[in-house]
Amino acid sequence: MSDSTVYRASTTAPVNIAVIKYWGKRDTALNLPTNSSLSVTLSQKSLKTHTTASCSSSYSGPDSLLLNGEPEDIQSSKRTQACLQLLRRFRKDVEAKDSSLPKLTDMPLKLVSINNFPTAAGLASSAAGFAALVRAIANLYELPHSPTQLSLIARQGSGSACRSLMGGYVAWRAGSSKDGQDSIAEEIAPVSHWPEMRALILVVSADKKGVASTAGMQTTVETSTLFKARAEEIVPKRMALMEEAIQAKDFPKFAETTMKDSNSFHACCLDSWPPIHYLNDVSRAAMNAVETINRRAGELVAAYTFDAGPNAVIYYEEKNEKLVAGVFRYVLQAVTGWDGEYGSNIPLNDRGGLEA
Ligand code: ADP
Ligand code: DP6
Ligand code: CO
Repeated sequence: MSDSTVYRASTTAPVNIAVIKYWGKRDTALNLPTNSSLSVTLSQKSLKTHTTASCSSSYSGPDSLLLNGEPEDIQSSKRTQACLQLLRRFRKDVEAKDSSLPKLTDMPLKLVSINNFPTAAGLASSAAGFAALVRAIANLYELPHSPTQLSLIARQGSGSACRSLMGGYVAWRAGSSKDGQDSIAEEIAPVSHWPEMRALILVVSADKKGVASTAGMQTTVETSTLFKARAEEIVPKRMALMEEAIQAKDFPKFAETTMKDSNSFHACCLDSWPPIHYLNDVSRAAMNAVETINRRAGELVAAYTFDAGPNAVIYYEEKNEKLVAGVFRYVLQAVTGWDGEYGSNIPLNDRGGLEA
């Protein structure tokens, strides 16, 4: 028996952009949120994480991650360690049942991951990143876990990651249990339910954000005077509205709820102390452009949303492609003189959804 065998598995995972935002933890160790959230999974034709997991007894430890070509310190990342521990524990169960299987759990893991879009810039790299990390190792370990079970593990790496294990329209139910077993992602509608939906991504800045999501939401929970009402009253009502809008494919209702929730989240950021500024002048010009488009159309045909960064995601329906994508660029240039490019790998008519 050779000891130098390398066991390897690769996978990709999509980005998801929330239309009802997760912002705040009720349990920082288990990554349990203060409110439920809902997102749209974007096509992997544009944005994706590619991760390869390998292990071998010929590797010298400890476990390592090379992210976009740079070593990432995963030893001191409690949340990455939590994911690795859980995955190893599940593999141990598999190995215990069949003694002929190689003891992969005793071998150091090498993870190599690439995001084909800006990392830590408010385009959900932690979501695609941890979804891919968990699924790559689950594949390597040949675990029998469903996407829902994997979402429980990925959630502990980064909350938003639990929603990237599914396609289409995905709710992350906050749950109420102490151990987080009911804090899981659920696909409420497949992409085929609303195939006309499109996302346009405006990369305003590819720079790493000044305040990481984990730290930012903690500051908001501790200091924002608006936060309690958002988490306890406003978001639960909006979750219900958003689910209705999606089921009915009611774009104006979807758009209004999406924009209100993005604004409520950024208001809480500004209301934190010290204040957190994720939006910049180009982001605000993008908001104005969407408002102009909607005013001209006489109804809501476009919806902006911003994660924890300045980059805009605009949702619209395919029939309004010219109106939204065409006018958008023109108005933005006229308002700001901005001549930036849309992300070169991001087609304007990106169809939301998980590729088979
Ligand atoms: P974003 O808005 O991009 O999600 P966050 O502040 O939430 O930004 O998280 C960024 C962090 O997520 C990175 O600094 C890194 O630690 C982690 N991350 C990003 N991409 C990956 C990946 N492909 N694999 C593992 N971890 C990743
Ligand atoms: C604004 O999932 O990145 O994108 O759980 O601390 O890793 P951690 O935070 P993260 O936060 C995402 C915040 C958001 C909204 C959302 O995706 O719902
Ligand atoms: Co993130």
